[in-house]
Amino acid sequence: MADTDDIREGNRFGLDTPASTEGFYLKGLNNTDWGLKNRLSRIFNQKSGRTVMLAFDHGFLMGPTSGLERIDINIDPLAEYADCLMGCRGMIRANISPTCSKPVCMRTDTGTTILTQMNDNVLVSEDEVIRMNVSAMAAMLSVGEKETEALTIANFSALVDRGMKLGIPVMGVTAVGKDMARDARYFGMASRVCAENGASIVKTYYTEGFEKVVAATPVPVVIAGGKKLPELEALELCRKAIDCGAAGVDMGRNVFQSEAPVAMIQAVAGVVHDGLSPEEGFQKFNDLKAQG
Ligand code: R5P
Repeated sequence: MADTDDIREGNRFGLDTPASTEGFYLKGLNNTDWGLKNRLSRIFNQKSGRTVMLAFDHGFLMGPTSGLERIDINIDPLAEYADCLMGCRGMIRANISPTCSKPVCMRTDTGTTILTQMNDNVLVSEDEVIRMNVSAMAAMLSVGEKETEALTIANFSALVDRGMKLGIPVMGVTAVGKDMARDARYFGMASRVCAENGASIVKTYYTEGFEKVVAATPVPVVIAGGKKLPELEALELCRKAIDCGAAGVDMGRNVFQSEAPVAMIQAVAGVVHDGLSPEEGFQKFNDLKAQG
């Protein structure tokens, strides 16, 4: 029951301080709900406005690929250096401690592997998303493939409906048809289609002309790393993407297939958050690697 005595009159009304009308720090998201913004604020560093997401969802398509044979041994030690963990529910549940306070971006479309027709996927249930306490949900949106374009866009749109209902941001994972050029025109189109359908984050690939992809996508864009590159080249890729306006990376193979993954993720973070040049990042990588 509320106390009825010693009721004190308020006197800290800050009459000289107008209420803040500042916008949200991430582009295109000012008109979204509090819960959605709060989740995004866990994913994107509030000083740099960027993120280093650690992607380890590859197994749902390709099984135990190199570097992901044992998530508990290969990925768990990297978690503390990531801003966000991007994976599938089964791997997270089995291998990542529930005491880990890093936000999770959960892969929410599933149904096919590299052995059959790609992207013929359905969505994981809403209950499961809540049980996993996710900060974002990710699903593929593929343009240019007759068999899968309509399905992946419908999946994506349905996922955004769920996300908007729950206050959970959706990250669009772009793909283009196998006969299409992997260039700014098509990745730019896939990115834009994600945003048009309500994505709060778009993950795509760096290409020549990437600044146009970022400019035409009105929400934060992060890049996937793609196939394993020599470490310096991977850091150059990060730098170029950031310089074109990317809001970070969602990187997998170039981290967990590195000869020194713990050093590599910190070097990537140095480029993404601290403005390091690729060479400075590479120096950081080598220094950390030497320390063991
Ligand atoms: C692709 O569909 C997967 O979602 C990966 O998460 C994504 O490609 C990022 O991983 P990587 O940096 O290895 O390309």
